[in-house]
Amino acid sequence: MAVAPSQSSTPFFLVLLLPLLLPQLPGPAQHTAAAQRCPQVCICDSSRRHAVCRQQNLTEVPDTIPELTQQLDLQGNKLKVISPAAFGALPYLTHLDLSHCRVELVAEGAFRGLGRLLLLNLASNRLRVLPQEALDGLGSLQRLELTGNLLEELRPGTFGALGALATLNLAHNALVYLPAMAFQGLLGARWLQLSHNALSVLAPEALAGLPALRRLSLHHNELQALPGPALSQAPGLVRLELGHNPLTYVGEEDALVLPGLRELLLDHGGLQALGPRAFARCPRLRTLDLRGNQLDMLPPLQGPGQLRRLRLQGNPLWCGCRARPLLEWLARAHVQADGTCGGPRRLRGEALDALRPSALRCLGNGAEEEEEEVATRPRAPTRTPQEDERAARPCPRSCTCSSESRHSSCEGRSLRAVPSGFPNATQLLDLRGNRFPSVPRAAFPGLGHLVSLYLQHCHITELEKGALAGLDRLVYLYLADNQLSGLSAAALEGAPHLGYLYLERNRFARVPGAALGALPSLFSLHLQDNALARLEPGDLAGARALRWLYLSGNRITQVSPGALSPAPELEKLYLDRNELRDVPTGALAGLPALAELQLSGNRLSTLRAGAFRPVARSLQRLFLNGSGLEQVSPGAFEGLGPGLLSLHLQENRLQALPALPALTRLEDIDLSGNPFCCDCQLLPLHRWLSGLNLWVGATCAAPPSARGQSVAAAMTAFEDCPGPRRAHTEGRRRGAHKAGHG
Ligand SMILES: *[C@@H]1O[C@H](CO)[C@@H](O)[C@H](O)[C@H]1NC(C)=O
Ligand SMILES: *[C@@H]1O[C@H](CO)[C@@H](O)[C@H](O)[C@H]1NC(C)=O
Ligand SMILES: *[C@@H]1O[C@H](CO)[C@@H](O)[C@H](O)[C@H]1NC(C)=O
Repeated sequence: MAVAPSQSSTPFFLVLLLPLLLPQLPGPAQHTAAAQRCPQVCICDSSRRHAVCRQQNLTEVPDTIPELTQQLDLQGNKLKVISPAAFGALPYLTHLDLSHCRVELVAEGAFRGLGRLLLLNLASNRLRVLPQEALDGLGSLQRLELTGNLLEELRPGTFGALGALATLNLAHNALVYLPAMAFQGLLGARWLQLSHNALSVLAPEALAGLPALRRLSLHHNELQALPGPALSQAPGLVRLELGHNPLTYVGEEDALVLPGLRELLLDHGGLQALGPRAFARCPRLRTLDLRGNQLDMLPPLQGPGQLRRLRLQGNPLWCGCRARPLLEWLARAHVQADGTCGGPRRLRGEALDALRPSALRCLGNGAEEEEEEVATRPRAPTRTPQEDERAARPCPRSCTCSSESRHSSCEGRSLRAVPSGFPNATQLLDLRGNRFPSVPRAAFPGLGHLVSLYLQHCHITELEKGALAGLDRLVYLYLADNQLSGLSAAALEGAPHLGYLYLERNRFARVPGAALGALPSLFSLHLQDNALARLEPGDLAGARALRWLYLSGNRITQVSPGALSPAPELEKLYLDRNELRDVPTGALAGLPALAELQLSGNRLSTLRAGAFRPVARSLQRLFLNGSGLEQVSPGAFEGLGPGLLSLHLQENRLQALPALPALTRLEDIDLSGNPFCCDCQLLPLHRWLSGLNLWVGATCAAPPSARGQSVAAAMTAFEDCPGPRRAHTEGRRRGAHKAGHG
């Protein structure tokens, strides 16, 4: 009974580098009594204070485990639910292993009483969500393993009680999105593992509140663009792993601002180009890994002056005349680079760092060697020597298929039907600029690994029922610039993970609500520049995961109450450039997460009191510019407060505007292009603006004496108004009555 078999030490315990703090133990008598208990199905080692109850089909935590146990291994049982205070009788636990236990639910307060726990292993279970208080009471926890679960979403605050946590492992889950403040409270976290998920978007504030973070693992996700603003929220990062994401370009606009970053991994993506200043704001970068991309050229990189190692293997580098600046820079900056040339033919396979710049030839008459060959080589993606070997693999005629990047392309080939026979590992298929009036049923056979499908500019008028059948992993579907006027209920079936649907510049007169019902994961819907006239209840039925809705540039006159309520998680709503005459206040009810509302370019003329009240708590950015506004009721912005960061009212016809002192955290306000009348009724606005440390752009159009002056600075216009004065005129005006608002 009191034996500790050798196989009881799991790899999980071995990786542990934490010092084991011995808790203060009760007296010897109690100690002996406690040591005598041990459930039949367990092995207890009282000297090491271990209890091992592995693979026993237990459905509950046994209740006779010695109270003094510090390490409890329950791996491989069938617990299913961890109920509140399930370990309340084991206050000395430092290590708890609940992996492979088929856990579906961790109840709120499940770990209460485990204030000494250092390590909690919940790996390889079946958790889909974590209730907000599931991890309460774990104030000493240093490492939390949640890898291999089914988590699709993290709620802000989930990790709020884990101030001592150093490592959080969320790899191998099903996360598609990280909301703002997802990791709030993890003040000590140094390593965050988010690899092998399906992340396509990080909210700009997703990584806020992680001051100690040094390493971030985001490899094997679905990021198509570098989430620069989000990553820059973790300025202490030293190592950033972004490999195996479908990134195609990184430029300065992606704005990675990471002053301490030393290692950046961008390997095995789909990079086709890199801007020279892409890493200009990562001055300490030493190692940049770009292996396995589609780069045929690389500019000298500006900014990372400490760069020593550039990994370029597996790129089809073109060692022609135009690569000279790269070679010269590598030599000058003492950067060691390890790629090989993919061409021209005479240099194929040569190591890049063995070449002298003079070996990269231009022809005498100004034409470059590569240009001759470029004309004869296949369109990008270029084949590398390894790929030549595999050239026997399938690829439809007149298309190119790269097994390295898993991209296949038949862009602009005037094809009349969707070709078949692509490699079944293809992740990105580019069919833009062809002519497929109708996309037939099961048009993409064998492409169960496809993530992105490009079908823009293809003259498509119809998607037949089941056209997407079998596209189990499709996340991005681009159908912009076609001639679709509708989608039948079954048109989008077969792609249950579709997150991003691009339908802009088609001919939709109604939102294709029936078709959206097949997309439980739809995150972002683009319907800009169609012919939508109204939004009715039912239009979004089924789109319950929708977060971003783009309806700009339609002819919408009405958004009916209830039309948006099937999408309670909506964060962005773009209704700009439509024909609304009123803020659709009724339709905003039931959208507790709405953060950005675009209403510019409508015909609003008046803002009524309480126009934004239903979303006042969550709204951060409000655009009302160019909307023909003439009047703003004193209560128009009622309810809006410190949450609002951005307010756009420029290019309207406002002569007056109430002061908005409740907006204490504005970062951005634009009132330019309005004909403000700077008489005493504008005094409250003048006062508020003159105390605001922001460029506002409000100028007086009247009276003539004040024309052109800024509302905030115009002193003379307001000098004779009744009301309390600024400090320097205080004495003169003492006794004047208080000016009312509005
Ligand atoms: C657990 O259940 C499985 C399947 O029912 C069975 O094969 C196995 O022997 C059980 N293990 C124990 C220790 O009872
Ligand atoms: C592709 O198909 C072949 C044969 O049909 C199969 O052996 C292989 O496992 C498939 N690969 C993938 C990635 O599905
Ligand atoms: C509103 O302002 C934004 C930001 O300045 C601008 O991009 C947009 O074009 C404007 N819209 C209209 C309709 O004026």
